[in-house]
Amino acid sequence: MNMATSPLDHVSPETNVFLVDVIHGLRQAQKTLPCKYLYDETGSRLFEKICELRDYYLTRTEAEIFSRYLSNMAEHIGQDALIIEPGAGNCEKVRPLLQQLDSPAGYIPTDISPEILLAARAEIEALLPTLSVQAAVGDFTQKAFWNSFDCPPASKRVIFFPGSTIGNFDPEQARALLAIFTSQLQPGDGLLIGTDLDKDSVILERAYHDSEHVTAAFNKNLLTRINSELQGNFDLSLFAHRAFYHSLRQRVEMHLVCLRSHDVTIAGERIHFREGETIHTENSHKYSLNGFRGLLEDTGFQTVTHWTDRECRYAIHYAQVA
Ligand code: AVJ
Repeated sequence: MNMATSPLDHVSPETNVFLVDVIHGLRQAQKTLPCKYLYDETGSRLFEKICELRDYYLTRTEAEIFSRYLSNMAEHIGQDALIIEPGAGNCEKVRPLLQQLDSPAGYIPTDISPEILLAARAEIEALLPTLSVQAAVGDFTQKAFWNSFDCPPASKRVIFFPGSTIGNFDPEQARALLAIFTSQLQPGDGLLIGTDLDKDSVILERAYHDSEHVTAAFNKNLLTRINSELQGNFDLSLFAHRAFYHSLRQRVEMHLVCLRSHDVTIAGERIHFREGETIHTENSHKYSLNGFRGLLEDTGFQTVTHWTDRECRYAIHYAQVA
């Protein structure tokens, strides 16, 4: 056993998990980093900037669908509902819904980034002083996380999962996540979920390779984060942002391409990068309406209805546990 003191001996358990995930991912033949690590404080702020880009139609389109059909959505959800939002971030999307709902029983935003979540909770409490708001910091993909917070009594629970976050998960992982959701719900409880739809690859690729290079900065921030939190020495000028649509897999893949063969050291571990090799940093799956309905039905949900924009770029589905 190596007893030498490493610079990371006295770090928090979270940092250790991050380190283990990073080293594990970069030792694979296809180097990969889990996309959840893109969303530290800087990453979350860069993602907010992405959402305002012209090229990134997802957020804008989803917002249009919400504002257009909000009262219909609130009717489906009904009175005294508890809204749980996994990965809530700045909690902006839920506000109009909370305002529209008939006496909601409470709101539980969850996120892995405590800074953003706690600021957002304060804003919601200012906006809706009578609403019970309880923030839960943690990783919603871990079943144990769901037992770490209590839910106030409600006529039904509704999981609110907008933003096409489900698209970050491979079909198998998406299935597992939806199964976690069903395990937290009773028959009649709901799921309001947004998905980006399959479409022309030019539109898709522009959304992930925007002309203002914000997505490139978002992608590269992962390397900055490894440098500062895990004592890495990535040279950001030796990596380029790449995003392309893989139509067979129905997903946009985001990578960092190594521009020149070199070594990188992370917490004392040396990793070799060949010229042209990539780190796969994110997938964004695109669904057909029927494909997504099938996924919901496979995981214990019954689809009630869905709403789309005129060009059918994006869909919001309401499903209930059967
Ligand atoms: C937050 C997963 C919905 O996949 O569209 C945006 C993340 N990555 N641009 C997406 C993202 C690059 C985004 N989601």
